[in-house]
Amino acid sequence: MIPINDLSRGYNLYHEEYEAKAIEVLRSGWYILGKEVTEFEKEYAEALGGNCYCASVDNGLDAITLGLKAAGIEPGDEIIVQANGYIATMLGIMQCAAIPIFVEPDEYYQLDYKNIEPAITPKTKAVLVTHLYGLATRMEPIIEICKKHNLMLFEDCAQSHFAPYKGTYTGLFGDASFFSFYPTKNFGGYGDGGGVVSKNPDIIKKVKVLRNYGSDYRYHNIELGCNARLDELQAGLLRIKLKHIKKLLANRDHIAQRYLAEIKNPNVSLPEIPDGCVHTWYQFVVRVNNQEKFRSFLEQKGVSTDISWKVPPYLQPIMIEKFGYKKGIFPITENICDTIVSLPMMDFMEDSEITKVINEVNNYEG
Ligand SMILES: Cc1ncc(COP(=O)(O)O)c(C=O)c1O
Repeated sequence: MIPINDLSRGYNLYHEEYEAKAIEVLRSGWYILGKEVTEFEKEYAEALGGNCYCASVDNGLDAITLGLKAAGIEPGDEIIVQANGYIATMLGIMQCAAIPIFVEPDEYYQLDYKNIEPAITPKTKAVLVTHLYGLATRMEPIIEICKKHNLMLFEDCAQSHFAPYKGTYTGLFGDASFFSFYPTKNFGGYGDGGGVVSKNPDIIKKVKVLRNYGSDYRYHNIELGCNARLDELQAGLLRIKLKHIKKLLANRDHIAQRYLAEIKNPNVSLPEIPDGCVHTWYQFVVRVNNQEKFRSFLEQKGVSTDISWKVPPYLQPIMIEKFGYKKGIFPITENICDTIVSLPMMDFMEDSEITKVINEVNNYEG
């Protein structure tokens, strides 16, 4: 069976370096907020192009929650997001007692800038873009709208590490950006992890206070903080991965380019990339009319698939309970949920495996 992902493959490529770093950290006698975290934060900001700062945290959800709080989001503020985004983005907003306002995505699955202005109300405080599946969103029109209406702009980059838009990496376009280093992510660690990136040092400083009991220095608490620190072991392992991320992204691109060139089946629509945007292939998402038939055909042929996601965030039980959303309000999103299928994509695949996926997808008769 070809898996949808196999995290041991990326690990095995550099296992000696990871293991050496793990032993180094374990033997150091220092496990929380030490040299590895400090160096990782510096190196990550530099890898994104310098001109920004990073505060590491314990996961992507806390990156969103603490990043929004640090940037000044307050209870009752409305934040515009795409309806086909991930539930964690909405939870981060709601942890701030702010309100996610959903709008339909464009044909590339990204927030459609044309839907922002009609969703603006006197309570709108920000737009939060998720660069979904590893593809950078077209940011220029969104930046313009945010400037025109004096809105803050945030980016959820949990799926888009090192995905450039017009030569600049995602995460550098707004007031703050939120990263997940969850193991399946293109830049994922070996446990939970996350980060807030911003060009504004005050936001980063505040996240660092919030993540550590609201403490600005030892035993001095100035904010209603929490414990959301990245640990030294994860930071050390992420530093190793950072050295190899370009090669790992190139491996994903090799898989994607073969899929794009060789999958030729009128029943299967391939992903498209708008001008100026680069795809880093967190997921390779195709569209089919009959999702279940396609998935069970591939399953029988030994190819695993997945759906990200079958139920959109606004139709999750907790969101229905809180906001009373009903099926049918976002038809573009619901059509996406009913027709998307992710093909195997990971840090490394043998060419024979890529060929098998391509052949089986081409054999599907619809
Ligand atoms: C778009 C998006 N936002 C936020 C998250 C949350 O990240 P984490 O799992 O590290 O909390 C994820 C991943 O799980 C994600 O895909």
